[in-house]
Amino acid sequence: MKHLLSIEALARADMDQILADAVSLKKQRGHHANQPLVGQTWAMIFSKSSTRTRVSFEVGIRELGGGVIFLPSSELQLGRGEPIKDTARVMGRMVHGVVFRTFAQSDVEEFAHYAAIPTINALTDHEHPCQILTDIFSFQEKRGPIQGKVVTFIGDGAGNMANSWMFAAGKASFELRIASPKAFQPSADMVKRAGGRIVVTEDVKAAATGADLLYTDVWVSMGKEVESASRIQQMNGYQINAGVVALARPGALVMHCLPAYRGKEIDEATFEANAQTIFDESENRLHVQKAILCWLVGSSVKRET
Ligand code: CP
Ligand code: NVA
Repeated sequence: MKHLLSIEALARADMDQILADAVSLKKQRGHHANQPLVGQTWAMIFSKSSTRTRVSFEVGIRELGGGVIFLPSSELQLGRGEPIKDTARVMGRMVHGVVFRTFAQSDVEEFAHYAAIPTINALTDHEHPCQILTDIFSFQEKRGPIQGKVVTFIGDGAGNMANSWMFAAGKASFELRIASPKAFQPSADMVKRAGGRIVVTEDVKAAATGADLLYTDVWVSMGKEVESASRIQQMNGYQINAGVVALARPGALVMHCLPAYRGKEIDEATFEANAQTIFDESENRLHVQKAILCWLVGSSVKRET
């Protein structure tokens, strides 16, 4: 039984297959050779808000021939305290796969274990594997292999996006630099656990110098709203703006997983100057979700020549 629960647990070969399949699926949109989800119904259980992840999975599942039910967890008995493992065992008997967005990573893992159907982590506090696969895909689409390149993450270095970038760095063999204030830096244990070439610093300028990709995420992740004022105050200065872009390699990409908060992690002018890249990245969520789904159900994707 295959699941996509984290970048950490994803084998390098499987990551490569998903990224390669996504290239073909993007070209084949509207005329897919096969519809591997015909006869299947997938459930999407979301405990947090979503625009991109929700829409890309709902559209992607349908385009691969499947049916989909969107289930806000607040409307399930889960929201009234029914245990994850009971919800999972019910789902496992009725649907063919689950896309789950929630808080604790352990909840997604417990769900996958008890449901015994393909389960996708659609974001937890710990990782956002679908987004990172898309980010690598999007970089490679424009700039070729990410291997050996320098990716600079600026902002909340201890959140789900930074964690997934860290696990990806070792697997896809790029250098990752994380520029964050001390309180939002990844722990030494996390850096060690991720392996790979990872530099953690408070110095935005040093981190941005010579980068091939500048990347950021919200300063206040979902679930951290009570810390909002303090996070904004502490991360002030950890912004992608013209001064930071000027330090990167000429032609460096600026990417953002979205949603973006202008004037916080990125300024308006820099966001708009890079909107083509950022919304290509957003669109690519659809193509990569389809590749993830095909990989999970063991459907081989016809490669474009
Ligand atoms: N980037 C991302 O996952 O966006 P949503 O929260 O809108 O799904
Ligand atoms: N770190 C952000 C990512 C949103 C896609 C959050 O968890 O809210």
